[in-house]
Amino acid sequence: MTEEMKNRWALVTGASRGIGRDFATLFAERGAKVVLVARSQESLDSLKEDLKTKHQCEAIVISCNLGRPDGIEELLQVLNEHEVQIDYLVNNAGFGSYGSFLQQSREKQLQMIDLNIRSLTHLTWSLAEKMKQRGFGHIVQLGSILSFLPMPDYAVYSASKQYVLSFSQGIREELKPHGVFVTTLCPGPTATSFFDHAGQDISNRGPYMMTSQEVAEIGMKAMLAKKALVVPGWKNKLFIFLCQWLPQTWFSNLISNQMEPIKEKDRPAP
Ligand SMILES: NC(=O)c1ccc[n+]([C@@H]2O[C@H](COP(=O)([O-])OP(=O)(O)OC[C@H]3O[C@@H](n4cnc5c(N)ncnc54)[C@H](OP(=O)(O)O)[C@@H]3O)[C@@H](O)[C@H]2O)c1
Repeated sequence: MTEEMKNRWALVTGASRGIGRDFATLFAERGAKVVLVARSQESLDSLKEDLKTKHQCEAIVISCNLGRPDGIEELLQVLNEHEVQIDYLVNNAGFGSYGSFLQQSREKQLQMIDLNIRSLTHLTWSLAEKMKQRGFGHIVQLGSILSFLPMPDYAVYSASKQYVLSFSQGIREELKPHGVFVTTLCPGPTATSFFDHAGQDISNRGPYMMTSQEVAEIGMKAMLAKKALVVPGWKNKLFIFLCQWLPQTWFSNLISNQMEPIKEKDRPAP
């Protein structure tokens, strides 16, 4: 058990599945108390029970839609009611949508901006101030390897993740002198339901993907080491390296041409 985390609260958005669920589990294993946030009440309740049984972890479930303008306000109100002070924040909730910009619904792309950018910024602003006052805090922001590359067919998503990286690196320098450390975690393809929701068929890529547990563990280690940026896995590191040296449009088109959409009817709701 990591002593530093004992009795401290960690808040993880998008904790109902995938990378967020694994992050929440890692906090519980280290003795922290956790606030689990996502829309799916049932999945959060079952994770809460699981963490209590396996790690005697105290957990609060907050089911809310962070993509809605009042989503964060609802979340902050519940935190106030419980008088909980957050020392670790993992801004993980996010989604992508695969396909050409003009062929996708305007509403969905705007929802993506609301969740991936607006809610992440709002929650960071609301919790970082109190961390700064207490002189202690860690914030993990979920970027992506697409934070480094404009991507056709993921245009809004890759742009949203470029915002996450740029914003997070900027505030890191502002908050560091006050004992608050911001780490941006930029995973490559990871085996979660992300691609089903995005509408991209990745069935032929299974063996090349990292697991969400691997990604969360690398993110947790980087957070504890107060790193500014972490890209999990050597293939993803190589990808970032090539992005910096090859012409961006050539590289973007090469990757985009290898991607397959999945049929709209087989695609889960976002
Ligand atoms: N998987 C990858 O290849 C990959 C690569 C790079 C970066 N990432 C990033 O990693 C993060 C986690 O993704 P993942 O792969 O774990 O995907 P995932 O399995 O689809 O999980 C997404 C999480 O976000 C939550 N969420 C979605 N919309 C929400 C909303 N409006 N309000 C509140 N919560 C919401 C979902 O819960 P509910 O549906 O219950 O609300 C879920 O818990 C995302 O930011 C993603 O962009 C993923």
